Amino acid sequence: MSGPIELRTATLNDAKTLYDWRNDPLTRKNSLNQQEIPFASHQSWLSDVLLDKDRHLLIALDSSGVAVGTGRADFDGKFYELSWSIAPNKRGQGLGQKLVRALTDQFQPAQASIRQDNISSIKIAEAVGFTRVAVTDDGVMLFQLD
Ligand SMILES: CC(C)(COP(=O)(O)OP(=O)(O)OC[C@H]1O[C@@H](n2cnc3c(N)ncnc32)[C@H](O)[C@@H]1OP(=O)(O)O)[C@@H](O)C(=O)NCCC(=O)NCCS
Repeated sequence: MSGPIELRTATLNDAKTLYDWRNDPLTRKNSLNQQEIPFASHQSWLSDVLLDKDRHLLIALDSSGVAVGTGRADFDGKFYELSWSIAPNKRGQGLGQKLVRALTDQFQPAQASIRQDNISSIKIAEAVGFTRVAVTDDGVMLFQLD
């Protein structure tokens, strides 16, 4: 099993890493917006997020300080909408669950929208205590933890 992880706030220096993870095929398949994103739009998206006090973008670090994933918490006035991903070469080691647990320790009440074929994320959400509250016609499941 992998060791503990720690979260730090993302910066503009994380642009390339975040971009590579975002455009990874599995990340795109599981994202609500599945389009490939040009680097310039990614950079302006990142600057906007970093300036927005209601949005929190975190980088997960393993015990050696290596960036292994990212999480986001966007406050909508009621819930923190969480999203997450693990670096492609670090998947399947339990890091996803640790990342989501660290996010929910910090951001509650929380909500997450997960595609119904994203079995590992559904398992993670259930393991950290989310309950399923709705499913949309296009197969996106809404989970809440409060
Ligand atoms: C989804 C994602 C975050 C999972 O992270 P991970 O570190 O690989 O997941 P974990 O190792 O913590 O595994 C979580 C659970 O899913 C299971 N699992 C992992 N891969 C699986 C697979 N391909 N199929 C079924 N179950 C799987 C694990 O066995 C574990 O279950 P358990 O706790 O019952 O043993 C990662 O695959 C990812 O970044 N995917 C692309 C982006 C994404 O989907 N983001 C989430 C959008 S909501």
